[in-house]
This record gives sequence, C-alpha cells and structure tokens, in this order.
Amino acid sequence: MIHTKNLKRHYVEGERTVTALDGVDIDVAEGEFVSITGPSGCGKTTLLQLIGALDTPTSGAITVAGIDLSSAKEATRTRFRREEVGIVFQFFNLLPTLTVAENIGLPLRLQGIRGDAIRERVDALLPMVGLADRFTHLPRQLSGGEMQRVAIARALIHPSAFASR
Ligand SMILES: Nc1ncnc2c1ncn2[C@@H]1O[C@H](COP(=O)(O)OP(=O)(O)O)[C@@H](O)[C@H]1O
Ligand SMILES: [Mg+2]
Repeated sequence: MIHTKNLKRHYVEGERTVTALDGVDIDVAEGEFVSITGPSGCGKTTLLQLIGALDTPTSGAITVAGIDLSSAKEATRTRFRREEVGIVFQFFNLLPTLTVAENIGLPLRLQGIRGDAIRERVDALLPMVGLADRFTHLPRQLSGGEMQRVAIARALIHPSAFASR
C-alpha cells in the first residue's frame, strides 16, 4: 500500500540545508497497522506529509495506493488527497462553523456524494468514536478529546477505509 525507496527531503533555508529524511525505505501492506516513532525533529511529520501528498520529496521514490506520488501531476495528487487519505492533524483542523456531523462528512461532500449517503456513513462512524450524542455541536462546544475523535472519524470517512474493516 505504501512503498518508499531512498526517499529524501531536504529543506533549504538560505545557506543552510536541513536533511529531514535521508534515504527512507519503507513498505507497508494493506491492512497493516504501523507506528512511526522517534525523537522530536527526526522527520516523522515530513514523512507523513510526503505519504499524504501534502509535500513532494527532494529525491527518491514514493508510491501510495498504486499512485507514484513522486511523478504524479497536481490534479492526481489533489484527487488522491481528497479521496484516498485521512489525516488526524496535531491540532485537529476542524472547521469552526461546521457541526460535528458536517466536519466528519466534509471529505465526502467535496467528492459530490449525496447528502443521504453521507449522513448514513456519518451515522455509522459517530458511535464508533463515542460521539453519537454530539451530532449538531460545533467544535468550540467540544472538549479537546472530543475534537480529536471528530478528526479521527473524518479521517476514516473514505469508503476504502470502511471496506477494509
Ligand atoms: N518547513 C521546514 N523548513 C525547514 N526545516 C524544516 C521544515 N519542516 C521541518 N524542518 C526540519 O526538519 C526536521 C524534521 O522535522 P519534522 O519532520 O517536523 O520532525 P518530527 O515530526 O519527527 O518532529 C527538523 O530538523 C525540522 O526542524
Ligand atoms: Mg511532528
């Protein structure tokens, strides 16, 4: 599902070059559950941004879900981000004016999926993250842990995430 080969990401800041990833090789199979751990600054976020097509590598190969992200055009990368990936950001990135249900369903709405189909999937996800009674709340009415669970539900909304359950 995820393959990288000699993946490198350098950040250039004026005279200085920071090597965040220096030749990463990983292979993750479909259905595998993987944790990437390491000290602050070791490159975890950089790697996840490359896997999520939020950033492009300096060099090396990266293929996710059959898409070669090192050579894919922006339109392909955009579709990949919208339809294939779920990310729980460190600070959640919930939309403040949307309800819990609307935040969770947003990735599907952006794909033009029908409202009742979205509602059905959101209905199935909310109890799984313990938020069945928080449908119409806004993010600011939630605790930190509840916001985090909304972000988790949103990351799991894609049909592919459901199919592999
Ligand atoms: N946009 C950036 N510009 C310059 N250096 C960066 C940037 N993002 C991350 N870095 C540097 O790259 C290294 C890896 O960062 P990061 O991937 O955020 O680490 P982690 O998530 O493991 O804490 C760190 O030394 C960090 O300072
Ligand atoms: Mg990080």
